[in-house]
Amino acid sequence: MKIPFIDLKTQYETYKEEINKEVLGVMESTQFIFGPQVTKLENGLAKFTGAKHAISCSSGTDALILALLALDVKAGDEIITTPFTFIATAEVIALLGAVPVFVDICDMNYNIDFTKIEEKITSKTKAIMPVSLYGQTSNMDKINEIAERHNLPVIEDACQSFGAEFNGKKSGNLSTIGCTSFFPSKPLGCYGDGGALFCNDDALAEKIRSILNHGQGKRYEHKYIGINGRMDAMQAAILNVKLNHFEDEIEKRIEIGSRYSKLLENCEELKTPSVFEDRTSVYAQYSVLCKDRETLSKKLNDAGIPTAVHYPIPLHLQEAFAYLGGKEGDFPVSERVGKSIMSLPMSPFLTKEQQDMVVATIKA
Ligand SMILES: Cc1ncc(COP(=O)(O)O)c(C=O)c1O
Repeated sequence: MKIPFIDLKTQYETYKEEINKEVLGVMESTQFIFGPQVTKLENGLAKFTGAKHAISCSSGTDALILALLALDVKAGDEIITTPFTFIATAEVIALLGAVPVFVDICDMNYNIDFTKIEEKITSKTKAIMPVSLYGQTSNMDKINEIAERHNLPVIEDACQSFGAEFNGKKSGNLSTIGCTSFFPSKPLGCYGDGGALFCNDDALAEKIRSILNHGQGKRYEHKYIGINGRMDAMQAAILNVKLNHFEDEIEKRIEIGSRYSKLLENCEELKTPSVFEDRTSVYAQYSVLCKDRETLSKKLNDAGIPTAVHYPIPLHLQEAFAYLGGKEGDFPVSERVGKSIMSLPMSPFLTKEQQDMVVATIKA
């Protein structure tokens, strides 16, 4: 039995008729940019998250850059974030000439250690950007408290946590602006690139909408320097179908993630992920800390079980960020976790039989 890392095939087969119908509908309508599918998606996303404004866009990366542009982040500004994330989080900061200021992670859930944020705030700090890694948020109450004390906005990089909750509130709707990704392998994924921003401030929402369409208000009247950050109608049509099934998929994700943790509870070779009591994880990745990652991944791969490493090299040690002067030892938790973290196959379509095989192979 060969197990898919993320089973997009079974998912497509399950919703095929609905998806094909909606995609064909877009082609027949020839409304490829904006239009009813995009409006429907934004209404659905707002309802799902409880945010007043849900704004669709072209990717998670663009959602992050739009958030920074809307908050007037400029060259030389400092943005506090984590070095243990996908590069896009810090890349967008650097692209604007701003400076990513890293804070190490907490070794319980691999998110930014909020107790270390305040010591990094300076007169140049413009925003705090926590990442809800692997599908679970940080303690957003604590981060918002710190931000309020210093009059700073918070941008949640919720690219991996769409559908997760913190104190009963949805990820994406926990801070000044929330940004998510609909990359195909994300908890809610489209069939190409897509993303969304969430906020509760009317003026900020209007500004984001304008910036993602070349800074236009009225057609060919440009108030801001913007980008082409629009989501296309085809992706919106696919997401509209998938959003209808998303609550069920979240339930399955939680069930499968919890079952992994229970079955691997006493396994000495690895540490299962901790999920705090006041939140849920949608397990964008089910990632474990291994005693010996190389041997374990080889045995799993040889048995037809794919694994992945999210992420082997923290951002302060990446060549692209060498100009920041980071060095080994700066962020010891991120470095340690990067050396032993490994993700197992995970999707709402992972069967009990497949999961049992993964667990049995690990235990063997
Ligand atoms: C934490 C994080 N931030 C940002 C992104 C960027 O999203 P996208 O690939 O949709 O541009 C991703 C997705 O890979 C991510 O995992």
